[in-house]
Amino acid sequence: MSYTVLARKYRPQAFEEVTGQEHVVRTVENAIKLDRVAHAYLFAGPRGVGKTTAARLLARALNCEKGPTASPCGTCLACTEIRDGTSVDVAEIDGASNNGVENVREIRENAKYLPQRDRYKIYIIDEVHMLSGAAFNALLKTLEEPPPHVKFIFATTEPHKLPDTILSRCQRHNFRRISAAAMLKRLKEIAGLEKVTISDSSLSLIVRQSEGGMRDALSLLDQILSACGNTPSDAEVADALGAIDRTAVHAFATALVKRDAKLLLERTEEMWNRGVDLRRLAADLAFHLRNVFIAKATGAAPDELADSDKDVVVALAREADAAQVARLFDVVHTAEWEIARAPQPRLAFELALLRGLHLAPAASIPELITRVERLASGAASPAPGSGASGGRSGASTFRS
Ligand SMILES: Nc1ncnc2c1ncn2[C@@H]1O[C@H](COP(=O)(O)OP(=O)(O)OP(=O)(O)O)[C@@H](O)[C@H]1O
Ligand SMILES: [Mg+2]
Ligand SMILES: [Zn+2]
Repeated sequence: MSYTVLARKYRPQAFEEVTGQEHVVRTVENAIKLDRVAHAYLFAGPRGVGKTTAARLLARALNCEKGPTASPCGTCLACTEIRDGTSVDVAEIDGASNNGVENVREIRENAKYLPQRDRYKIYIIDEVHMLSGAAFNALLKTLEEPPPHVKFIFATTEPHKLPDTILSRCQRHNFRRISAAAMLKRLKEIAGLEKVTISDSSLSLIVRQSEGGMRDALSLLDQILSACGNTPSDAEVADALGAIDRTAVHAFATALVKRDAKLLLERTEEMWNRGVDLRRLAADLAFHLRNVFIAKATGAAPDELADSDKDVVVALAREADAAQVARLFDVVHTAEWEIARAPQPRLAFELALLRGLHLAPAASIPELITRVERLASGAASPAPGSGASGGRSGASTFRS
């Protein structure tokens, strides 16, 4: 049997399997239950978040032999043919390659006739924003008052390119990027079904790289499994994704908080020799510091992290001071741009790290205020290094 990519194999087959789009699913399900299904829908949103999937599910819900129903059976002829894209009454049209006025005329002609077998004739037009101006115009009339047996479902990643005349004739639903926590949960389920052993930490790395798109996440997982087999280690996953080993990122952050210049420089050398992209390293480090800062501010690590990463974040948050972390984040985040433009990226990276050591105050602001007040009231100055973390010499200078 030929191999089916995960994104296709795990296309949701029921509304409740559609991850992270509850606001859309609920409305559509209700419309079906209340028999208030609009004649034209527009599903808008980023790539790979479930638009085509939802369009097919809606088509099934409408045409299922046991329907119209919010939970189509999945086994009747209508359901299986829609799943396989072979239904005579459900046309899936790629708007990008059928964008001319003649294509719309054909749809218009066709729409006049009753469905051949099922309840409705359904036109799913993907990338609908690619239609030409003339094609949109040709569509208007039919879209305004389609025959009762016709439904349109449009999908687009660029709704702003649609003319207002089209927008105002559709019921619009905005699909969102899928939250990291919801994606992690779905990936874990799929990994389980595929009998793959992969750490949460690796999965959350995938989640982060896919930026809320489920198709991208599943493609990355595919890529990893074909490169490393069914039990990829964290290092293998990081490598396959061109990502940087988490432990290295954690080591940099800890060294920054502890003001360990020597360690920072040694580690940089090591990364440089390994050919690691330093801009990427800065980006990952900034993300880690951001998480520590969130942990500091809210008392808990962000939800989207794997448990093992959460522990590391919380531990560092306990050790670091909020003002220090905020400033470190600033320095590292800015460094990302500097490194990208620098003729010598390594020097830019090192300089940023060293600046990070000196910019951040050695103690928390309240602590500094107490010290200043004590000095002002004539008390002896406190012993050097009485601040937060170990106090390396020079670290308490508050340069700007
Ligand atoms: N919300 C979701 N829940 C579960 N799986 C999803 C979701 N969105 C996407 N997927 C996975 O990604 C694959 C592609 O999704 P789909 O074709 O619905 O995306 P799309 O929004 O239409 O993207 P595009 O804009 O690129 O056409 C699905 O087969 C499924 O495996
Ligand atoms: Mg699609
Ligand atoms: Zn059915």
